[in-house]
Order: sequence, then C-alpha cells, then structure tokens
Amino acid sequence: MVELALPKNSRVTQGKHWPAPQGSSGDIRTFRIYRYNPETGENPRWDTFDVPKDACGPMVLDALIWIKDNLDPTLAFRRSCREGVCGSCSMNVDGNNTLACTKGHSECKGKTVSISPLPHLEVVKDLVPDLSNFYAQYATIEPHLQHVTVMPQTEWLQSPEDREKLDGLYECILCACCSTSCPSYWWNGDRYLGPAALLQAYRWVIDSRDEETGKRLDALEDPFKLYRCHTIMNCAQVCPKGLNPAKAIAELKKLMVERQT
Ligand code: SF4
Ligand code: SF4
Ligand code: FES
Repeated sequence: MVELALPKNSRVTQGKHWPAPQGSSGDIRTFRIYRYNPETGENPRWDTFDVPKDACGPMVLDALIWIKDNLDPTLAFRRSCREGVCGSCSMNVDGNNTLACTKGHSECKGKTVSISPLPHLEVVKDLVPDLSNFYAQYATIEPHLQHVTVMPQTEWLQSPEDREKLDGLYECILCACCSTSCPSYWWNGDRYLGPAALLQAYRWVIDSRDEETGKRLDALEDPFKLYRCHTIMNCAQVCPKGLNPAKAIAELKKLMVERQT
C-alpha cells in the first residue's frame, strides 16, 4: 500500500508558550496561532498566547493586535479597515475562513481559539498568505466597465431593475475566504478561477451598461476556468458578506447554455 506523508519540513511542530504579562488579572483566553517564517528554514509551529480577556477588544483581530503590542511584535498578519470592508484580515479561525475583524472571540466556543492562514496557499509569513495567483485571476476577468459605443458625457444611467441585478455581487470585498474554502480551487487553483473571480465575472456580465458580454463569456468557455465548480457550496457558507458565489457560477453556466440554443 502507498503510504502518504507530509514532507518533513512542512510538519507543524509545537511552538512557544507566551504567558500573559505579570500582573494580568481576570479571565485568560488562549490563542493557538500558526507561525512560519520561510527565511529561517525552520518548520512551521503552533505558538500559544495567553490573553487577558478584558485587556483587548472583542474581536479576534483585537486579540491579534494585543498580542503583537504586548507579547510578540514579530507576529505577522494583514489588516486595514477593522470594519469588514477591506477584506485584508481574512484567515482561518477554528476551522472556518472568516474576517478576523468581524469575528468575536466570544463566538469561538472552545477554551483555545485556533488561528491559521487561509488554507491551500503559500505562506509569506505567519498569517499572511500569498494571494498573487488570486489577484492575477481576478485581473483576467477584466473587472471594469467595457464599452463599444461612445461613452456618454453625463452619468451612465441604469434602470432601478438593472441596478438591482448587481445586489449580492457588488458587495464582494475580495477577501478570498470563498476561493480558499473551495475543494475544486484547492486542487485546480492554477486553472479553475474559483468562486470569488467568477462572482466578479458575473457581476460584469450582467451589468446592463457593459457592452462586452459576449467577449466575457467567450473568455470563460474553457473546461477548467468555470466548469470545475461542483456545487459543493462551501463558498456560500463561509462568505463573511453573506454572498452566494455558487449561485453566480450557476447563472454563468446558464448563460453559456442559453447563448448556444
Ligand atoms: S459551489 Fe463551486 S465554487 Fe463554491 S465551493 Fe463548491 S465547487 Fe467551489
Ligand atoms: S464572495 Fe464573499 S468570501 Fe468570496 S471574496 Fe467576495 S466577499 Fe470574500
Ligand atoms: S481589517 Fe478590513 S476586513 Fe478586516
């Protein structure tokens, strides 16, 4: 029988325990955090940090910021808006991809909160994944209004009905929670565009002002780019903005069929 094992250098080892600073009082919450620095040549490890609950704000991101400020300034993670708007603090918390700034640590049920980077991506450092491929794929769907006729000199009007078609799509913040929770994307991430890029592709396909719908659909006519979605629905389950990329993908597939009949 074939025995499969992880390469030695990718085994995650037990790391360091960081106790709360002396004199801390009140309830302590432990955060188990994935640490990796490719420059050191060391294996990744799980560090544990004790955080006095009352000392930091209520969100997982607040705890990370507290840890960085008070225990280990080398901890790396991305964040910007702290409002669920920029999409940069996406990570895996207790097994689910989510935004650290909108996830309350009191929502995490276990005694220890486990935090790792978004899955199935190269790790730049600690909780920072390499999103180069994700953004390159987004660029391939040409995410901007395209027109053939002359641009109007004033506002480009849409009927309220046409504008409504963009609801559930324009809210996407490109956090990558959906794509990195999609098994099809894990195995074919180099060729399958994944739920985030496809939701965005659909957003431009159904925009009444865009005049390159045919060209956009042609670009998706490929056995991998669109058709690797098997409707597993992880994407819709994890989206922190409550969007449904699987539905957008189904609509794209429907349009592909309709234009051939
Ligand atoms: S529904 Fe499609 S895009 Fe969404 S997780 Fe499943 S396979 Fe991936
Ligand atoms: S569809 Fe949702 S989960 Fe996916 S990138 Fe957009 S906001 Fe993030
Ligand atoms: S920091 Fe911007 S979405 Fe979390």
